[in-house]
Amino acid sequence: MLQDSFGRKHDYLRISLTDVCNFRCVYCMPAEDMQFMPPTKLMQANEIIDIATEFVKLGVTKIRLTGGEPLVRKDAADIILQLSKLPVELTISTNAVRVDEFIDVFKRANIKSINVSLDTLNKEKFHTIAQRNSFDKVWSNINLLVENNFHVKINAVIMNGINETELNDFVALTQQLPVHVRFIEFMPFTGNKWNDTKVFSYQQMLDVIAAKYTFIKLKDGKHDTTKKYKVLNHAGTFAVISTMSAPFCEGCNRLRLTADGKMKNCLFSKGEADILSAYRAGEDFISIIKQCVHQKEKALGGQFTSDLHKVNSENILNRSMISIGG
Ligand code: 5AD
Ligand code: SF4
Repeated sequence: MLQDSFGRKHDYLRISLTDVCNFRCVYCMPAEDMQFMPPTKLMQANEIIDIATEFVKLGVTKIRLTGGEPLVRKDAADIILQLSKLPVELTISTNAVRVDEFIDVFKRANIKSINVSLDTLNKEKFHTIAQRNSFDKVWSNINLLVENNFHVKINAVIMNGINETELNDFVALTQQLPVHVRFIEFMPFTGNKWNDTKVFSYQQMLDVIAAKYTFIKLKDGKHDTTKKYKVLNHAGTFAVISTMSAPFCEGCNRLRLTADGKMKNCLFSKGEADILSAYRAGEDFISIIKQCVHQKEKALGGQFTSDLHKVNSENILNRSMISIGG
């Protein structure tokens, strides 16, 4: 069991398959020229399977594949199918552009739940945020997932002045469609021009939604990042991921592996443990994994607190989100 110095047990591993993405979301990609990882630095399919297998032996029961965009990787289907043989709940976070090509792979891999990033329901705004004109494709693929009985979570990063006006449109969506919309507070990562005025907080979100809807609180699980709600008689639900204003680090069970095989014990960790190099050198990487878990900070990578106005994103040492893997 991978337990940290605060007694948190870690059984959930998020593996980034690539730092490449077919979108250019402004909040995720660094504004300067993005240097993608050279292919030889990436974990190869067999390396991913071997390393994931060791994590499973250490107690991991859930694996989420992320990116960049995981489905742009050429051998994504092969990796998904191989990982599905491990005794884990396998899930994926995707921008959904290529989902129609992968529906059968998802079914064969026994994937039940899929997270789709979608920050706006407006075609033009979609183009502004993602810098790609793919709204129709994403929308039809979300419907395809629902028709095929996948549990669909829609992740919307809410940014003040960009899409905070759409909160109730997303909630309206849950009336007919059995999807679970999660509003994410805008977080600081290297190169994403974060500042506190761009955050639309959990409380602000609830106030906007309460002005239009009556909703009930749903019960949250111990490790949930979300505060869940439901408008009565709606087919779906909505939730808030309040990383910035109300962090949920006490219940954290998550570990991350970047596409170049570095382990991060927190989304905001400064440090990384080089698992892939140790694996390639035939060294004992199990003890490196354990040590990395043990070094996990109590909250937010030890880099800031939930006092939003005091956060100076320039001082946070991290990667860009696209190279961490959400
Ligand atoms: N703040 C909040 N969420 C972000 N994501 C990417 N960058 C940020 C950010 N700066 C989200 C993506 C995806 C999830 C994995 O993380 O939109 O839905
Ligand atoms: Fe876990 Fe770090 Fe996220 Fe907190 S900030 S929930 S410790 S990954």
